[in-house]
Amino acid sequence: MEQLTSSGKITVSWHHRVLKCRDAFQAEGPALASLFQTEEGPSRVLIVIDAGLDAAQPELRANVMHWMQQHPEAVTPSGPPLIVLGGEQAKQDHVVFDQVVQAVHQRRICRQSYILAIGGGAMLDAVGLAAATAHRGVRLVRLPSTTLSQADAGVSVKNGINAFGAKNLIGTFAPPWAVINDATLLPTLDDVFWRGGLSEAVKVGLLKDPDLLTMIEESTSDLNNRDLDAMERIVTATANLHVNHIVSGGDPFEISRARPLDFGHWSAHQLEQMTGTRLSHGDAVGIGLLIDLQYAALELGASSALVNRVADCLASLGFPTHSDAMTDEDRLLEGIERFREHLGGKLAITMVTQPGLSMEIDQMDAHAVRQALRLVRSRGQERSLRAG
Ligand SMILES: NC(=O)c1ccc[n+]([C@@H]2O[C@H](COP(=O)([O-])OP(=O)(O)OC[C@H]3O[C@@H](n4cnc5c(N)ncnc54)[C@H](O)[C@@H]3O)[C@@H](O)[C@H]2O)c1
Ligand SMILES: [Zn+2]
Repeated sequence: MEQLTSSGKITVSWHHRVLKCRDAFQAEGPALASLFQTEEGPSRVLIVIDAGLDAAQPELRANVMHWMQQHPEAVTPSGPPLIVLGGEQAKQDHVVFDQVVQAVHQRRICRQSYILAIGGGAMLDAVGLAAATAHRGVRLVRLPSTTLSQADAGVSVKNGINAFGAKNLIGTFAPPWAVINDATLLPTLDDVFWRGGLSEAVKVGLLKDPDLLTMIEESTSDLNNRDLDAMERIVTATANLHVNHIVSGGDPFEISRARPLDFGHWSAHQLEQMTGTRLSHGDAVGIGLLIDLQYAALELGASSALVNRVADCLASLGFPTHSDAMTDEDRLLEGIERFREHLGGKLAITMVTQPGLSMEIDQMDAHAVRQALRLVRSRGQERSLRAG
């Protein structure tokens, strides 16, 4: 085929800024404001807050408005914070997406303006999709407010909402303008979402950093006692590994097929959908890791000691190690097909065989997957019985 004379390479460069602080709107207020100030003056900002966070920290709205009033050189409020539904409901339909796009329109937010989104991973995914598509892209600053979103979802370059029963069916790759991980947002999380980011931490530890896995194991009692320093250390180490992968891994927009950081996720996504999201993403990822590790032990030479080690670690952090939904093996196995479609037709699943050692496989033996499901489930049930 002949090349058009006008064709050529398009290069778009992004700076993926991920910062951490405590007390973003007070102690770190000036530094936060400087992110919005331009040579032409202050920027218009639409603040969007997760309703769950707003309920848990009712002073946050006033703090945000006060911070804006303190920094007129940098930010011009477009109105009071827009409070949107948080949790998986935020991305189950397009209500939150619509609300944000409508606010962009009504509050005269342009492509040089900013959306400052504060909340959990689900809300950030839905708001991120609105920010990426309204006016074809409004700048987005994220302040993730859960451990999972600070460790993973919030620092990623993806957004999305669920549709037709499939997770993240509609979404884009769109790096945020900046991400600020503020540990002082975390203490009001309930137990499920306090631990939520730790299964993703175990995941990246297994994939890329065995020392992180050991650090988590050694910190379980601090983490269970809600030690914010311990949580911040693990969240930061996990976020760094995710960001490094995005920035230096050579494929930030996942154009090639493999998605190494999605270890344990084919089943996790399916379990979330099968349980009507009663199983949180973090809890589903914990079970997904055990399923894939057990598969690796059956088929790829991983040791059963590793499966037990990870199950012990997750259980000691309060994660469930099985789910009743695992009995519907046929439906769970559909997760592999969903994953295949998401990757563009050819399967590429990352499997860990030892901490820090992974491999990619392009098919999974259905019989062995079923066997892995049964083993994980029966060990999980035994563990629950022992725990009383
Ligand atoms: N974009 C990505 O790359 C990516 C990566 C991983 C996960 N995700 C997505 O992230 C979602 C899970 O996010 P999550 O684990 O952050 O949970 P979540 O967003 O569902 O939030 C959990 C709950 O906590 C509430 N909440 C948020 N912050 C709070 C706080 N500080 N105090 C009290 N309550 C608070 C929320 O309102 C919600 O009810 C999933 O939809 C998953 O698909 C996206
Ligand atoms: Zn995940």
